[in-house]
Amino acid sequence: SIPHKLVVANWKMHGNLARNQVLIKEYLQALNPLAQTKVVVCVPYPYLAQIQILLANTGVAWGAQNLAKFEQGAHTGEVSAEMLKDFGAQYVIIGHSERSTAYCESDENIAEKFMMAKRHGLTPILCVGETLLEREAGVMTRVVGKQLETIIRLFGAGAFAESIVSYEPIWAIGTGLAASAEQAVAMHQFIRDTVAAADSAAASTLKILYGGSVNPQNAVQLLNQKEIDGALVGRCSLDAEQFIKICQAVP
Ligand code: G3H
Repeated sequence: SIPHKLVVANWKMHGNLARNQVLIKEYLQALNPLAQTKVVVCVPYPYLAQIQILLANTGVAWGAQNLAKFEQGAHTGEVSAEMLKDFGAQYVIIGHSERSTAYCESDENIAEKFMMAKRHGLTPILCVGETLLEREAGVMTRVVGKQLETIIRLFGAGAFAESIVSYEPIWAIGTGLAASAEQAVAMHQFIRDTVAAADSAAASTLKILYGGSVNPQNAVQLLNQKEIDGALVGRCSLDAEQFIKICQAVP
């Protein structure tokens, strides 16, 4: 089962062999005694082989940032769930807004990827969240609700058992402006309630992370909320010192 609280690093399209090695070494020096926090590192595909070796037997898990909705076949440039498993990945980010916006991924597409991960025993980290315009219009629960309902409609709410949803308001990603603890808690409650209304058992094993400009300063307040099961960290995961401070903020 998924551990109590998680901190997930999303390196996005950053890194190289030499830099990754240094960063992981720095992570591990500080993270080894932190057994109660589950740390996951999601890397670009070409570095899965490297990360598998660097993180073997460390207690730190790894994953990818996307996967194909197909099992295999003539899909040039795509990477399958089975390939991720081949490199020991346990987690995969699904539907990150940087992908869904730039590559026009629909909620249906994202739902299929979510199920592909589940079928292959990968833990999906499903990103949901509203734009600034949607928040200002007060429709954030409608937007996030639709993202969740697509999976519920196509595959049933049971799919959320032992899964991870990351609430990532798009206005908070990479902007330095994180959601307040109150804003995040309200959306986390909405997410859990939406899943619970369809399948309360599944909702009880669902982990809900917060992502969007998490830094060592705001991590303490965010991670101390009982509704917030962890963080998905972009920019600050590229700096070992900051990332470690975020991991240490887990109560
Ligand atoms: O996946 C991570 C989120 O997009 C947050 O990125 O911490 O750079 O704002 P950020």
